[in-house]
Amino acid sequence: MAEKSFKYVIIGGGVSAGYAAREFIKQGVKPGELAIISKEAVAPYERPALSKAYLFPEGTARLPGFHVCVGSGGERLLPEWYKEKGIELILSTEIVKADLAAKTLVSAAGEIFKYHILIIATGSAVIRLTDFGVQGADAKNIFYLREIDDADKLVQVIKEKKNGKVVIVGGGYIGLELSAALRINNLDVTMVYPEPWCMPRLFTAGIAAFYEGYYANKGVKIIKGTVAVGFNADSNGEVKEVKLKDGRVLEADIVVVGVGGRPLVTLFKGQVEEEKGGIKTDAFFKTSVSDVYAVGDVATFPMKLYNDIRRVEHVDHARKSAEQAVKAIKSNEEGKTIDVYDYLPFFYSRSFDLSWQFYGDNVGDAVLFGDNDPASPNPKFGSYWIKDGKVVGAFLEGGSPDENKAIAKVARVQPPAMNLDLLTKEGLSFACKI
Ligand code: FDA
Ligand code: NAD
Repeated sequence: MAEKSFKYVIIGGGVSAGYAAREFIKQGVKPGELAIISKEAVAPYERPALSKAYLFPEGTARLPGFHVCVGSGGERLLPEWYKEKGIELILSTEIVKADLAAKTLVSAAGEIFKYHILIIATGSAVIRLTDFGVQGADAKNIFYLREIDDADKLVQVIKEKKNGKVVIVGGGYIGLELSAALRINNLDVTMVYPEPWCMPRLFTAGIAAFYEGYYANKGVKIIKGTVAVGFNADSNGEVKEVKLKDGRVLEADIVVVGVGGRPLVTLFKGQVEEEKGGIKTDAFFKTSVSDVYAVGDVATFPMKLYNDIRRVEHVDHARKSAEQAVKAIKSNEEGKTIDVYDYLPFFYSRSFDLSWQFYGDNVGDAVLFGDNDPASPNPKFGSYWIKDGKVVGAFLEGGSPDENKAIAKVARVQPPAMNLDLLTKEGLSFACKI
């Protein structure tokens, strides 16, 4: 089998890979030095589009419209760009074996790739209900969403099951974004999740109450405090019913499951140090193995701001960690040093006419401010999180670009706030004066 050799190889062709490629070109790589090996059939794209405009009936997003780096206002890197720059884009190629000691990767088709420096950017895989043996979970029309092929399957079934019934399993990011996208397609949507409120890993009960009310007003039904324990299918094997733990049975033509992701690190098990489910890195995304870096969802890295070690599954970090790793690789070659990664967590989501941003850490006491009436024509509200007398996190729904900048600054600066009642009263104006 043919063997190919590169100075730099990125394994994975998602968000991090695309931003890393751009940074390599900025820093200077020669044609033929860099390869990206991806299981997907398309050049790196902005994954967030898949759960939003990709599924909309109008204003639909399609490739090549959302290749990286348009999501952060940058140049759109079309497949031709990689060719022009001499970057080898090796698509539809899954790596099934990685030998970090021998600096060798092997694809499913048996091709061998050698590298001098490796960047691991394999992202996450969805957790499937079949992983924990939920009865009937392999029925047809039960969907997950991670890659563009998954989104295409959803687009197809939306066409086939016009005005049909959808059950969304999970109340996190995928649950909230997909129930909105499918409702916009005029499907009858019911969400089911085990927690007392949606998105509990970020939202407080107060924040969640707004979204649950807003979704209900849009016609999305919500069933909380229970889980799907089984599925019934018809004679074609297509899902027809979802059985809940509390005994209820829901009709369904389509089921979408969003019960979390898991970083794709199995190829490297036992070869590299792991922590918190990811590959442990330093502040330059260097792993415990020399010449091997890990970025994006798979990296567990030092979060300087909180003197902690964390993994982040969001696009802003995927972009920035990739850039940091490439800068570190190039500066190392030149015998120079760069600053350590000093990341301020930034998460966001959009659904229906809503749009929120969050910066910082959601720990300590939380206060809610602003107009959080789900029936408001222009709701604008937020939350601050206060720990040890300092504001450490800030959330804002419906903010303008300047207001979002202001909450980002608050989370970075961590101003003192001793009086929580006053903070509630001041609301957004507290952030705007920092
Ligand atoms: P990413 O998943 O982007 O890329 C990994 C790549 O590696 C894929 O191309 C995969 O096929 C490939 N790969 C994996 N194993 C391989 C192997 N063995 N061989 C070859 N290739 C392999 N975040 C946010 O902040 N705001 C948002 O709105 C959204 N929205 C959103 C929607 C949807 C549907 C998803 C799934 C995720 C989001 N996210 C998000 C999260 C964000 O997209 C995510 O954190 C980044 O894409 C992570 O970037 P990575 O490059 O680490 O992985
Ligand atoms: P998530 O962790 O956000 O949410 C999973 C949800 O499923 C939680 O509410 C959880 O309690 C619930 N759940 C767990 N087991 C369940 C069960 N058996 N039945 C019903 N509910 C169950 O994960 P996700 O929404 O699947 O997202 C997957 C990945 O994609 C994550 O990495 C996420 O960050 C990323 N993503 C991010 C965005 C964004 O940032 N806007 C959007 C989409 C996806």
